[in-house]
Amino acid sequence: MLKLTWYSHACILVETSQTRILVDPFLSGNPLAPVREDEVAAEVILVSHGHGDHLGDTVSISKRTGATVISNFEIANWLLDQGVENVHPQHIGGGFDYPWGRVKLTIAHHGSALPDGSYGGNPCGFLLYLEGKKIYHACDTGLFYDMKLIGEEGIDLAILPIGDNFTMGPVDALRAVKLIEPAKVLPIHYNTFDVIAQDPEDWKNMVEKDTDAQVSVLEPGQSIEL
Ligand code: NI
Ligand code: MN
Repeated sequence: MLKLTWYSHACILVETSQTRILVDPFLSGNPLAPVREDEVAAEVILVSHGHGDHLGDTVSISKRTGATVISNFEIANWLLDQGVENVHPQHIGGGFDYPWGRVKLTIAHHGSALPDGSYGGNPCGFLLYLEGKKIYHACDTGLFYDMKLIGEEGIDLAILPIGDNFTMGPVDALRAVKLIEPAKVLPIHYNTFDVIAQDPEDWKNMVEKDTDAQVSVLEPGQSIEL
């Protein structure tokens, strides 16, 4: 089983037959969040960078659930200082085989300061190898040509920001699809705030007209299975 639920913005819950992985849990303070941070369940949390709309409720969720947080070295150490007990630091380009699958950190062009101003290292995206499938979650980034290298892995699902202003917008996200050549695409990081308002159906039409990728547009709380 491989099921993904979009909790709006960049927050995704990935459920496999072995574990539940929560990516970038920005729930409290997120006007579109379909679940509460004091109710969501996960065994693993992935944090792409230090910004509040990605780090989100990582500290409280990990303390409540005991979930292991996977992030870069700087954020993992900062989380230990916040009293989070279970962390696994990785860094850009490094993968690790967990009992439930493999996680590799990919480059992302963005910032990563933590909410208290601490240095959060470099931001990242995630390449997940789960149940024989490969999922690329780009997280917050501008377009970069090395997405082509990520695509060479054979991506079943690419999760791409389309909001513009802070990340790739619709036009660059289409170029990203052409570089990655994924089978399926899930657009994220739009409509949470006015400055990242986009029409995902317009984007779906544009991508499906111009590439072989199939675009899934979800409402917050909706799921897809791979
Ligand atoms: Ni950010
Ligand atoms: Mn963001």
